[in-house]
Amino acid sequence: MFKVRLRPSNVEFNVESEETILSAALKVGLVVPYGCKNGACGSCKASIVGGTVDYGDHQKRALSEYEKNNNGLLLCTAKPLSNIEITANLISATKENEPKKMPCRVEKIEIVTEDIAIIRLKLPANQSFSYLPGQYVDILLKDGKRRSYSMANMPNQENVIELHIKHNPGGLLTDSIFDNKSSESPILKEKNILRLEGPLGTFYFRENSKEKILFIASGTGIGPIKAIIENLISENFSREVILYWGVRSPNDLYILEIIENWKNSPLKFTFVPVVSDAKNEDKWKGREGFVHSAIMDDQISLKNFSVYACGSPLMVNAAYDAFTKSRDLDKDHFFSDAFTVASDSQK
Ligand code: FES
Repeated sequence: MFKVRLRPSNVEFNVESEETILSAALKVGLVVPYGCKNGACGSCKASIVGGTVDYGDHQKRALSEYEKNNNGLLLCTAKPLSNIEITANLISATKENEPKKMPCRVEKIEIVTEDIAIIRLKLPANQSFSYLPGQYVDILLKDGKRRSYSMANMPNQENVIELHIKHNPGGLLTDSIFDNKSSESPILKEKNILRLEGPLGTFYFRENSKEKILFIASGTGIGPIKAIIENLISENFSREVILYWGVRSPNDLYILEIIENWKNSPLKFTFVPVVSDAKNEDKWKGREGFVHSAIMDDQISLKNFSVYACGSPLMVNAAYDAFTKSRDLDKDHFFSDAFTVASDSQK
């Protein structure tokens, strides 16, 4: 067993052998930034002040060799090999929403595009489930595997959560919705009982956000952003909010009507849909290209902005690099949730 000390909070906790720093921290109620928990998204990146670690299995795009050589580590994969001191922000906000495991019933499955479905899960009426809009849940499968999906609505009295799920061909969970030929006993079927664990993740609105807010989503990354914006509207948030949503085809703008309605809210709201792969027959007259490039093209100075980005790791990383290097974005005001695809995980 080794000791881990976090800076600047000076909080200390123990890590058992073979345990990752992230799971040891969460076990004692200490919440540090994280997303995928499997070394793919980079959200849990921190830096070593002193001590050594086994870096564990991770993807290079989450932690490069260069970053490793310059004291970087991923809290979700690193295991201490000595007592260790780390610089990592300590977040306490989600302490009150401890993750728990519970059953849920598939209430409704609505296929909204050829490869996206909106699933509503009903949680037990006698169990309260509180979470911060933007967080995700894991669906627990029989073989011990889990699939992560963000919640796309805010907490509600009906105890219903909404997930936006994209088809991942070959994936056990999503093939059962989109592929008629697949499994005879689909897991995601109306009235089926599933088990889930949540709330998880640290993608949620920060009370100390800057004056203006920029949301950037790609694909179903709009889900958790929808939950955050609906919550802001319910709290009569009246500051400037800009949303860029990048999709492949205009048909993928599957919650367009809901978003258009946000213009009638107290928000000073601007919405820019961006399509990357429009065909002639689409007759798309709006913005084209990659969503983060559209923001760069618009020459917005992000000095007084907090940015919330959600979607593919490619988009999230490109946005972080471009905005912090060339648009004056304060690094501490970039919050993200990168959807990593592990089998048919899609959060
Ligand atoms: S890389 Fe650690 S949480 Fe995603």
